[in-house]
Amino acid sequence: MTEETLTIRNNSTGKEADFSLLKGTIGTPVIDVSSLNKKMGLFTYDPGFMSTSSCKSAITYIDGEKGVLLYRGYPIDQLAEKCSFLEVAHLLMNGELASDSKQAEFEHEVGQHAMLHEAMRSFIDGFHYDAHPMAMMVGIVGSLSAFYHSELDMNDPEHRRISAMRMLAKMPVIAAACYRHSIGFPFVYPRSDLSYCENFLNMMFSLPSQKYIDKDNYIDPVAVKALNLLFILHADHEQNASTSTVRLASSTGANPYACIAAGIGALWGPAHGGANEAVLSMLEEIGTVDRIPMFIEKAKDKNDPFRLMGFGHRVYKNFDPRATIIRKACYEVLEGLAGSEKDPLFELALELEKYALNDEYFIEKKLYPNVDFYSGIIYKALNIPVDMFTVMFTIARTAGWVSHWLEMMAEPGQRIGRPRQIYTGHDIRNI
Ligand code: ACO
Repeated sequence: MTEETLTIRNNSTGKEADFSLLKGTIGTPVIDVSSLNKKMGLFTYDPGFMSTSSCKSAITYIDGEKGVLLYRGYPIDQLAEKCSFLEVAHLLMNGELASDSKQAEFEHEVGQHAMLHEAMRSFIDGFHYDAHPMAMMVGIVGSLSAFYHSELDMNDPEHRRISAMRMLAKMPVIAAACYRHSIGFPFVYPRSDLSYCENFLNMMFSLPSQKYIDKDNYIDPVAVKALNLLFILHADHEQNASTSTVRLASSTGANPYACIAAGIGALWGPAHGGANEAVLSMLEEIGTVDRIPMFIEKAKDKNDPFRLMGFGHRVYKNFDPRATIIRKACYEVLEGLAGSEKDPLFELALELEKYALNDEYFIEKKLYPNVDFYSGIIYKALNIPVDMFTVMFTIARTAGWVSHWLEMMAEPGQRIGRPRQIYTGHDIRNI
């Protein structure tokens, strides 16, 4: 088969050159412009990466028009229905769902790596009690490299694997420790007899005087199921801002803990993972259904920086398949969770959604609720405090970040990521 090419011609100079069209398994063809500068003395300009693929990856596929999301080829709804988060983590990191015995081994290893070095506790204690937990996460995850410097040979696949497993295992422990610090409660050690999600809930909520188990001696399965679902839906999303940050940092050869810490920093922004926290704040600010039209008008006003948080997505232009799954789960969690009642914020969110979906501005710009429009409602029902919402996202996305990092580091011929610019400053001048 002949290679498909695309000719680029500079109409001013008449210079032209052919560029290959690359094709993945599925998805839009991509022009390989890596030799553009060499062949034509030009760079491309694409702020916000509106039309740029930054890498090849076999992990996650999104079709934004059709609302398709696949992890290693499996549709997200099937994974959400049939798998545990750690099964999905294994799939993302290793390319395949594991056999029962391999999965047991994987989960045993996660359990083995969950403990934190005791010295980390004094590190955590150094933060002021009202530090934002995401600020603590960036610092603490970055500091992990100081504890594991004997296994940081990034040319050694086993060092890379262990580093990835450590981050997957320790992230919920660090997250819960940050929360406990903020409320002045004692740190709870991870337990290997509990599942990943049960363990996290136990580390968050158990007390020396009162275990986080109900009278029948179990952790509410509705809460565990909901957490498992949210973690799966947030586990990966191809080259989003935080994953691209992890990749860019990794391209310098920086250690994996520093790279993941960089990803956590990028996730924190309200246009990305911080949106779940921003949605709840927005719903609280709106307060009542009669104030919805006012906020819709604010969101449409170009002179007002307000945006409808939890609406819109760079890639999904019809619907976010994760939002469909999570919206349904909201009903189940709010009805099924022991002691939970109808949440007025969920009622308000449904009204806001109805209003926006019938508004010409949102229809024309293809702005639909994204995954984070609903995730905060579930986290709230699980008693997770609002400033921990993005931390929850961090736990889940760690599976994706380390998978991308492992994929990238195993690829031969890595180059440092180094974009160019259009310089708009002064031309050369003398003092
Ligand atoms: N409310 C009001 N208007 C919006 C919104 C919104 N939430 N989102 C986009 N628009 C408008 C923009 O003003 C712009 O209008 P214009 O064409 O007249 O200038 C148009 O829609 C396109 O928006 P962009 O910002 O160019 O789209 P982009 O793809 O760059 O941004 C993003 C996507 C960041 C998600 C954006 O929709 C947004 O800020 N949403 C709110 C924050 C949010 O929910 N983020 C979570 C994303 S999901 C995740 O990270 C897990």
